[in-house]
Amino acid sequence: MSIKHFLSLTDFSRGDLEQIIERAAQLKRLHDSGVQDRSLDGKTMAMIFELKSTRTRVAFEAGMHQLGGHAIFLRPDETQLGRGEPIGDTARVLSTLVDIIMLRVHDHADISSFAAASSVPVINGMSNRFHPCQLLADMQTFAEKRGSIRDQSVAFVGDGYNMCNSYILASDQFDFDLVISTPTEFRPDADLIDSSSRARWVASPEEAVSGANLVITDVWSSMGQENERTERLEAFQGFQVNADLLDNAHPDVLFMHCLPAHRGEEISDNLLEDPRSVVWEEAGNRLHSQKALLEFMLS
Ligand code: CP
Repeated sequence: MSIKHFLSLTDFSRGDLEQIIERAAQLKRLHDSGVQDRSLDGKTMAMIFELKSTRTRVAFEAGMHQLGGHAIFLRPDETQLGRGEPIGDTARVLSTLVDIIMLRVHDHADISSFAAASSVPVINGMSNRFHPCQLLADMQTFAEKRGSIRDQSVAFVGDGYNMCNSYILASDQFDFDLVISTPTEFRPDADLIDSSSRARWVASPEEAVSGANLVITDVWSSMGQENERTERLEAFQGFQVNADLLDNAHPDVLFMHCLPAHRGEEISDNLLEDPRSVVWEEAGNRLHSQKALLEFMLS
């Protein structure tokens, strides 16, 4: 049987994704009522983080613990990867030692190479191209607050980077309309938007947000782009999500941000506390959706 990796949302069918999100809601209810579910008793996960993390790491580590398993945190500079051991060799070795492996990498090509050499399932904990685990939490959060996202209108405003790319795939997988507004030079990857049946780009953030049921943004300088910060701050002027911009959306709009946020840049100072913001629930759902993902991939 071929191994199921989760490097992007298109690795799973729509039914698989819906099943994971439904299970995430169930695991959340069990967790909140103090019921323990030890479905991953004896399982071990290795997590390789080339880039920093709070939510992804803690959600996986706490999630494995709660399900009866164990997670091992690895930094490349503290393993033989940092001394030049080829990524494929590392994948082959770790596959013999653990049951599942998560990677957060700069270059998506590295996680693809790793997965090709791995004999156990591999999860993308974020790359320069996609952040599929975040989308599971976002879709769970929307479902909890508003029900099905099918045929709803979603707006992404900001940098056409890994979160925007992930929303393009989500729009086809979950059947919603996605309107993206970015500065022209920061449009999302052309291969993704050109092949999407539900996503389109517009120049104006106001047009993107008009009537939207969900508005999302992300930081203007992602990890590894810090040396471009000055130019990016200038290029993204006019693309801040603030209360006035949200006023163009549907009256019941939700606002999400994968966090960490830069107040005064991609969002206004108080937006996270706006009644339309669900960012704290979204962050908390990383735990439940990642537990459901682990169960799905290890079952
Ligand atoms: N949103 C997200 O992935 O957060 P971390 O970088 O803290 O993992």
